[in-house]
Amino acid sequence: MNNSPTATTNLKDAAQSELRQMLYLSAAVRLMDDAELAEILAVSRRNNTRDGVSGMLLYDAGNFVQFLEGPPDAVEAAWRRIQRDQRHKGVIVASDKPAKTRLFPDWSMGFEAGGGDGGFHLDWEALQTRTPDDFPKVVQTIMRAFYTAGR
Ligand SMILES: Cc1cc2nc3c(=O)[nH]c(=O)nc-3n(C[C@H](O)[C@H](O)[C@H](O)COP(=O)(O)O)c2cc1C
Repeated sequence: MNNSPTATTNLKDAAQSELRQMLYLSAAVRLMDDAELAEILAVSRRNNTRDGVSGMLLYDAGNFVQFLEGPPDAVEAAWRRIQRDQRHKGVIVASDKPAKTRLFPDWSMGFEAGGGDGGFHLDWEALQTRTPDDFPKVVQTIMRAFYTAGR
């Protein structure tokens, strides 16, 4: 399975439009295999492309971190489906706020899986280069912790 973040859409928002950005953590009910992750991603990318949602999903050793952004109604609809999903539990929202610009405009759902050995292809520094100055502090802290845990 190709774990590299994939550019599958390129969303241009009107300059004034308000977006909702949220970050949550959750625990898979059991360890996910490649096929299960691929299924989650395929559905996510299809729906998110349709609905104008973009973001990033990280998975390692049974833990998810997901960043979602887009028009508030679209994010809310995705969020409701995600919360109901029986494949994960213990969902904790770390950040939920309005924003004017996207952090991941070309990712309908970028994805990274740690190899279980603590290895990500895309390291924290590379991610930070993509998503510079206005990267929310809490997102930065949590994603950095997630990336560096187990290394
Ligand atoms: C960790 C995790 C992340 C998910 N992320 C998304 C997402 O970004 N967008 C989405 O539509 N569904 C996502 N899903 C899947 C939803 O929970 C749900 O299964 C799906 O939206 C249903 O789509 P459907 O009604 O088209 O079958 C995710 C599920 C999990 C477990």
